[in-house]
Amino acid sequence: MRNFRSVLITLVLSGTFAEGQSPLIIPPTLSGPNIAITVDEGMHEFYPGMPAPTLGYNGDILGPTILLDAGNMVQFEVQNDLADPTTVHWHGLHVAPQNDGGPHSTIAPGGTWFPSFTVLDKAGTYWYHPHPHGMTMEQVVMGAAGMIIVRDPEEAALDLPRTYGVDDIPLILQFKELDSSGQLVMSDELDNVVVVNGSIAPTASLPAQVVRLRLLNGSSGRSFRLGTTSGVPMLMIASDAGLLDAPVNLSRLTLSPGERAEVLMDLTGLMGSSFELYTYGNELPQGVLGGQPMMLTPGPLDNVASSLMTVNVAAPSADPVTSVPTSLVSNTVWAEADASQTIDLSFSSQPMMGNNWFINGLKFDMGRIDQTVQLGSTVIWNLSNNSMMGHPFHIHAGHFYVLEKAGAAPSAEEAGRKDVVLVPPMTLARVIMKYEDFSDPVVPYMYHCHILSHEDDGMMGQFRVVDAMNSVEDRSRSGSFVYPNPVFGDRLTISSESSALRWMRLSDSQGRIVLERSIMTNGPVHLDRSGLAPGSYQLMVEGSDGNRSVHSVLFQ
Ligand code: C2O
Ligand code: CU
Ligand code: CU
Repeated sequence: MRNFRSVLITLVLSGTFAEGQSPLIIPPTLSGPNIAITVDEGMHEFYPGMPAPTLGYNGDILGPTILLDAGNMVQFEVQNDLADPTTVHWHGLHVAPQNDGGPHSTIAPGGTWFPSFTVLDKAGTYWYHPHPHGMTMEQVVMGAAGMIIVRDPEEAALDLPRTYGVDDIPLILQFKELDSSGQLVMSDELDNVVVVNGSIAPTASLPAQVVRLRLLNGSSGRSFRLGTTSGVPMLMIASDAGLLDAPVNLSRLTLSPGERAEVLMDLTGLMGSSFELYTYGNELPQGVLGGQPMMLTPGPLDNVASSLMTVNVAAPSADPVTSVPTSLVSNTVWAEADASQTIDLSFSSQPMMGNNWFINGLKFDMGRIDQTVQLGSTVIWNLSNNSMMGHPFHIHAGHFYVLEKAGAAPSAEEAGRKDVVLVPPMTLARVIMKYEDFSDPVVPYMYHCHILSHEDDGMMGQFRVVDAMNSVEDRSRSGSFVYPNPVFGDRLTISSESSALRWMRLSDSQGRIVLERSIMTNGPVHLDRSGLAPGSYQLMVEGSDGNRSVHSVLFQ
């Protein structure tokens, strides 16, 4: 036995321990109009005999899969039994800001939060996880995360596998770092294992028929490039927020942090065989975490192919699905011509400052609203990555569609409903989003990089959806002035006595935004009025101290 133990330790250190030994754990489910979850500390053995402290919802690690039916109202009771504040965010669900569980909705230690909402989303695979600012990575890496499955009549009418845990399999995929005694380490750089539903390299027994895998990348930073060793094709049927128009046949599927995909695999006739689910990090684009880094040294699982899970094909279940549909649903992309606003975000880093990420040159500030959009409006987001690293970018409030990525129309996998888009290094992605249901004069929605260390580090911003008929703006603490006013000529100057200006927005008398931009200078700002019709406008400016002031400006 002494020898066995030392072999064990050696294998642990080389990261190839106990492949295929534990059966895949299928999380239990919760459903119905009242759902209670409690986040608490737990203990979990990633390596046998090496218990490690973890976090979980209603258990030691991860959480139950929450089943929601579209159109139904659900009332949650979320209890925080941690020593730290937390929040619970329903990633991908279209809910009002105050129910969204962003960093403004903290639950104090020992506290309870009671969000409720009607499920407005399409059938699909969503998830929930903590979102307290600065602590998201720690809490997610420690294990707090769970899956949400939304069902609706449209999906129910299709001949798809949907028996949870039998032919409809939830797979929460996470890169993690464990030290030699099997304890979780809080690092982004050195992930050395992949856990599937909390286990390292588990074995799943799947029936010899069409099966559906619900894949979620719940990692802190790394992307997967998934494939199988069997050559059994993956038929992708859903992206982040719902079914695609038609299945897409793939031999590889890229899944960046926060993203989900549903795939069908036809295992008919394969009973008795086995294969492995792999990630081919060596096939990821350079600069995308999990692939070859641009500047850093690769971590243990970067830029290599590694096995995630073994599949043993077993006897078919009672009422198997044996064929795959050729078409699914029809998604309607909002028309670009209907967009009334464009939000430009530029991602950058300061190379000499380590892990230091900015959006439009700024770090996240809870007290600053970065953008305001009008209820009912359609907005184009230009996500321009000016850094040497890929960023999986997520926008709260619902789903978006990718219009363009790196100058091309989205691939079939990315043409459906999305809420995270991987923006590769030095690339522009454009997405379109419509704000149909919820406005809130106070609580904002978040947008951020879903690499959790980037998010915690401040690569996040917030936008408010306001009802033009009913809007409340922060008119506090004026420190800026504009001249001349009224404007007779073609130039308006905006200046500030107290702090440098960093953002401005001009709206016309109808409340339509005619100009919005970040200010990159410390001096006075000169605004060219060309193209602006005579009339009264509202100018809102924000100083670098986060204070905003509103000016009525008359253009003659
Ligand atoms: Cu999955 Cu704002 O997060
Ligand atoms: Cu989210
Ligand atoms: Cu990032």
